[in-house]
Amino acid sequence: MKINAFGIDFKNPVIAASGTFGFGNEYKDYYDPSILGGISTKGLTLESRAGNKGIRIAETSGGVMNSIGLENPGVEYFLNQGIEEMNDIESVILGNLGGSSLDTYIEGARLIEEHNKKVEKAEKNSKKIDIIELNISCPNVKEGGIAFGITCEGAEKVVREVRKVVSCPLVVKLSPNAENISRIAATCEFEGADGISLINTVSALKIDIRKRKPVFNNIYAGLSGPAIKPIALKMVRDVSKTVSVPVIGMGGIVTYEDAIEFIMAGAHLIQFGTASFMNPYAGRDIIDGIKRFMEEENIKNLDEIRGII
Ligand SMILES: Cc1cc2nc3c(=O)[nH]c(=O)nc-3n(C[C@H](O)[C@H](O)[C@H](O)COP(=O)(O)O)c2cc1C
Repeated sequence: MKINAFGIDFKNPVIAASGTFGFGNEYKDYYDPSILGGISTKGLTLESRAGNKGIRIAETSGGVMNSIGLENPGVEYFLNQGIEEMNDIESVILGNLGGSSLDTYIEGARLIEEHNKKVEKAEKNSKKIDIIELNISCPNVKEGGIAFGITCEGAEKVVREVRKVVSCPLVVKLSPNAENISRIAATCEFEGADGISLINTVSALKIDIRKRKPVFNNIYAGLSGPAIKPIALKMVRDVSKTVSVPVIGMGGIVTYEDAIEFIMAGAHLIQFGTASFMNPYAGRDIIDGIKRFMEEENIKNLDEIRGII
C-alpha cells in the first residue's frame, strides 16, 4: 500500500481530511493515528478565528452540513505550540492553509516555510509540515476562501504567489462549487501545484420550517458525507484525466469500497472526513479493508487499478 506522491513517501494512501480530525489527537482513544498515511490539519489561517456564530453543524439525509467558519488558533500559534500535539505522530502532515486575502495566504505560507527551514537546520525541535494543502475552497468564510477557488483567475493568482514562497510540496484543494473544476485544476498545475485535492464541501441549504428560517446564520452551509460521493467521484475522474500531477480524492468516503472507487477513478491518495463522525474507527477500517481487497483480488500495487475507469 506504500505510495510516493509529490516526492513524499506515504505508508498507505489513506489520509484524515481537514477539519474532521483536529490535529491528530482527537481519535487517539480509538486507534493510533500513526497508522494513517497522512493527516491534514484543521484549516489554519494567519489570524486566529473564533468561527461562525449560531448552529455550526447539522445532520441531513446521507451526510452533514457544516458552517464552522474556519475556527482555528492561527498559523503562528499552531507552529509554536499546537504542532507539539503531533510530535509523536508518524504520518505525513498536511498543513491545511486558508486565507481571507491574497496577502494572508502568502504570509501564512511564508510562516510555514520559515518553520520548516528552522526544523531542517535543527534550530527548532519540532515536526515539519510535509505538505501545504492550500484551501481555496472553504464555503463558510465571508472573505477569501472560496473566492479564490471558483474562478481560474482567482486560483492562478493565489497559487502563483504562494508557490513563490514555499519549497515544500504544494497541493491545492478545490471546490465542487467552482465554475469549471477541471480548468481550475489545470490552472493550478500550470502555476506550480504539485498536486490537487478535491472535493471540499458542496454549498447547500437547510431550512427550519417551524422558525421559517435557514438553520445556518450564513444561510448556506457545506454538505459532506455519503450524499456527495457520486459527485465527488465524477469530479475526481475528470480532474485526474486533465492534470498530470497526483490527485487526492475525497467526498463521502466511508468504507474501503468507496476508497477503491476513488482510486479506480484516478486518485493517488484518498481522504476520509465525515466518516469519522459516524464511525470513529473509519480510518483504520478503510486501511484494513484496502489491504484485504488487495489480497483477495491479487493486487500487488494500487497502480494496477488506478485510473482504470
Ligand atoms: C466539520 C467540518 C470541518 C471542515 N473543515 C475544513 C477545513 O478547515 N479545511 C478544509 O480544507 N476542509 C474542511 N472540511 C472539508 C473536508 O476536509 C472534506 O473536504 C469534505 O468534508 C468532504 O469529505 P467527506 O465527505 O469525507 O467529509 C471540513 C468538513 C467538515 C465536515
